[in-house]
Amino acid sequence: MTNLILPHGGIIKNCFVSESELPSIIQECKNLKSIIVSKRVLCDLEMIGIGAFSPLEGFVEKKDYDSIVENMRLSNGLIWPIPITLQINNDNYNLIKNEKRITLKDDSNEPVAILEIKEIFEPDLKKEAQCVFKTQDINHPAVKYLLEAGNHCVSGKIKLLRHTYDEFPEYNLGCAKTREMFKQKGWKRIVAFQTRNPVHRAHEYLLKVALETVDALMLHPTMGETKGDDIPANIRMQCYQTILEKYFPQDRTLLCIMPASMRYAGPKEAILHAIIRKNYGCTHFIVGRDHAGVGNYYGTYDAQKIFDEFKPEELGITLIFFEHTFWCNSCGGMASYKTCPHDSSSHVILSGTKVREMLRSGTLPPVEFTRPEIAKILIDSMKVGAGC
Ligand code: ADX
Repeated sequence: MTNLILPHGGIIKNCFVSESELPSIIQECKNLKSIIVSKRVLCDLEMIGIGAFSPLEGFVEKKDYDSIVENMRLSNGLIWPIPITLQINNDNYNLIKNEKRITLKDDSNEPVAILEIKEIFEPDLKKEAQCVFKTQDINHPAVKYLLEAGNHCVSGKIKLLRHTYDEFPEYNLGCAKTREMFKQKGWKRIVAFQTRNPVHRAHEYLLKVALETVDALMLHPTMGETKGDDIPANIRMQCYQTILEKYFPQDRTLLCIMPASMRYAGPKEAILHAIIRKNYGCTHFIVGRDHAGVGNYYGTYDAQKIFDEFKPEELGITLIFFEHTFWCNSCGGMASYKTCPHDSSSHVILSGTKVREMLRSGTLPPVEFTRPEIAKILIDSMKVGAGC
């Protein structure tokens, strides 16, 4: 039997209520004080539930919060770069401050989880913004969320009554399931790819180069909350299915979604992304240019450099770093600043804004930039006003 990579902290946590307990917990939830949580928190709940945030079993307490913000570690020393917190406003604080257990509800007022309150603390949100996102600028989407989401954090273990992310259920495999699949398929070395975009030629190149060196590829797009101008998840899903079907070997690839929200924390998010993929059972993780970046808050390769702060064995998963890649007309193929001797006049590099403009006007971007099948999906989605 194949020995898989150990999860972060040693075991995969499953934070769903067991079937036998479900009726009594549902009953209890009806009698508890409750708060309605944001879509972002629903994604965090799902990630905790399916073991993707192992070893976390809930929202972090103050000593872990402080340690993560200051040292990128849980208080027990385990690497953890971004606090997973449940922020609440003053009204909710007054409502639950004397409670031991509370119900978390979605925006339809339906109970989704029960939280065993460990402590309620006041986070230093400005310090958190500066340490985690390297800025306090509210033009950064996650900093805006952080500074507006409430001045108290409720910590404690959670148990989910059901999945809190319910799109693409056949692709929301969870960590125990992917691990089981890897064992069954006999895959020992599996590379994971994080993306929040349709797969362009540069992405495809990274995937193929990485796949040359391992047994299999897990394409693992982030499908929770993303910022308004990112392509919607349902359109991206069509792109992922198409690229794998047309350009990748079926028996070496797995499409699985990550039901998380993007935080756009650049380097710190790259660490979290790597830990999550280790939990799914992947042995390798790709980090390219400006990983999980937004605007100009991070340097192009900051998300690679940050891993120098850890001993490789502490993290466990192997990183595969890529320089900025592109099509080079003189090379006649994909290349990168590391491998290509030609100047920029040979390179096919288009900005996101330029590509969006082309797609909106129904123009196919060059095949050197995007596969026509993918461009067509994007153009069609814009015609029906899917909001790209
Ligand atoms: S991200 O927010 O998920 O990082 P994106 O989907 O664009 O955004 O990128 C997915 C992965 O591909 C990241 O590791 C990113 O660094 C890498 N990447 C994207 N485009 C390029 C490129 N042209 N060259 C090298 N790496 C790239």
